[in-house]
Amino acid sequence: MRGIILSGGSGTRLKPLTKITSKQLLPVYNRPMIYYPLDTLIKAGIKEILIIVAPERAGDYLNLLGSGKQFGVKFTYEIQDHPEGLAQAFLIGENFIDHEDVAMILGDNIFEDDFGEVIRNFKGGAKVFAKKVSDPERFGVVKFDENMKAVKIVEKPQEHLSDYAVTGLYVYDHRVVQIAKEVKPSARGELEIVDINNWYLEKGELEVEMIKGEWFDAGTFDSLLRVQNFAKEKLDDKMTI
Ligand code: TTP
Repeated sequence: MRGIILSGGSGTRLKPLTKITSKQLLPVYNRPMIYYPLDTLIKAGIKEILIIVAPERAGDYLNLLGSGKQFGVKFTYEIQDHPEGLAQAFLIGENFIDHEDVAMILGDNIFEDDFGEVIRNFKGGAKVFAKKVSDPERFGVVKFDENMKAVKIVEKPQEHLSDYAVTGLYVYDHRVVQIAKEVKPSARGELEIVDINNWYLEKGELEVEMIKGEWFDAGTFDSLLRVQNFAKEKLDDKMTI
């Protein structure tokens, strides 16, 4: 299994902080934000990690993270010239993924759970992780049928479909690269990961697993404040980096 941390984007909701640095390098308690998703991949046993960054910030990431040797892993870096969507990661990462399975995590997503077992037992298809939230309209939302079987995933739905948001960790087999090549930009001009997830779902190859621990998307001032406290109280002891 290869790992990707998607750490570009514009971070407009955290301006002015993100005028001078990348969102995912901002502090979350006593560590840069990206340490948390990085630790999630490392704890899951992933050793080869591609870090995708915006061009203006590439030097900062290299200075902070280096080769990966100090963390016992190997980093590869790629530039995303423009933030054209989460699914673009699989085009940028085509050579890196090669014929391996891949776990992609968003650089501003912070998880309490350990995904080691799930990732070791992954047998192909796709796997996403859902969490009950109070503000599902901010995320990709899973629509279920009466037997709680996932039937569709909708990005930022206008009507209420369920309270289950798709979190920012996605596991795919190598077919994801070809699928990403077929994805067309959405109305907001992005290659949407929801299209990839629905491709697997329609084939009956997408598994949606509920996560038990806390999950934070640290992209707003309020969520960033909440995760700072959570990191101090609950994550600090569990971190390996
Ligand atoms: P978002 O939080 O949706 O976008 P953003 O980081 O640009 O922030 P804002 O909406 O406030 O402008 O992105 C989720 C994560 O994915 C975040 O870690 C940034 C990353 N990302 C990329 O690296 N490239 C992209 O093209 C997009 C859309 C996001």
